[in-house]
Amino acid sequence: MTQDDLKRQVAEAALKYVVEDAIVGVGSGSTVFMFIEFLSKIKNKIEGAVAASEASAERLKKHGIRVVDLNSVSELPVYVDGADEITEYLHMIKGGGGALTREKIVAAVAKTFVCICDSSKLVPVLGKFPLPLEVVPMARSHVGREMLRRKAQPVLRENFKTDNGNLILDCHGLTILDPAALEAELNNIAGVVTNGLFARRSADVLLLGSPDGVKTYKKKI
Ligand code: 5RP
Repeated sequence: MTQDDLKRQVAEAALKYVVEDAIVGVGSGSTVFMFIEFLSKIKNKIEGAVAASEASAERLKKHGIRVVDLNSVSELPVYVDGADEITEYLHMIKGGGGALTREKIVAAVAKTFVCICDSSKLVPVLGKFPLPLEVVPMARSHVGREMLRRKAQPVLRENFKTDNGNLILDCHGLTILDPAALEAELNNIAGVVTNGLFARRSADVLLLGSPDGVKTYKKKI
């Protein structure tokens, strides 16, 4: 089975979490793009979708799914999104596609966060995947120095601007033993809009694609 087969498997499995006659939150990335394809098959059963990136909004519209502004939504029962790394505690690193800020906002509104990814994303400790920080452009050097002080190597994502007009610093070399504490600490650096740690609002359900089929993990309380 290829990695794409595993992604397709979980993208399809996520359909069972979609609530009829409601708005669904849709994240971003290649696994989510596959989810959008499956979602289009049941588009008449949902009210529409909130998108966590311009690319996902475009893709949803292309598939004839109504895209709704988050501000006009009072309830979002489910949010489906991928991850770059995830632990069995369902803490994640996200932002490989640079959509971390909007993803975090939509996740904050949703009642249930369903994470979909292939088994390569499940790790014992977060940090091998470089942690993305969305940074206001004038704060780039300041935030870079702050990260060096924390023993990380920040690398500016070349030729990339987020949907919010900001930069991404990918921070290498971190071993993240307390993701919730680091998430709060990094958000306190002036100029950081968001960091890619999703530990304070982790996923509630993980659908993990493996050659043996889809494995379901629930948040450990
Ligand atoms: C984008 C994300 C994506 O969810 C993450 O990068 C996973 O993407 P893919 O499904 O392509 O592996 O956080 O900002």
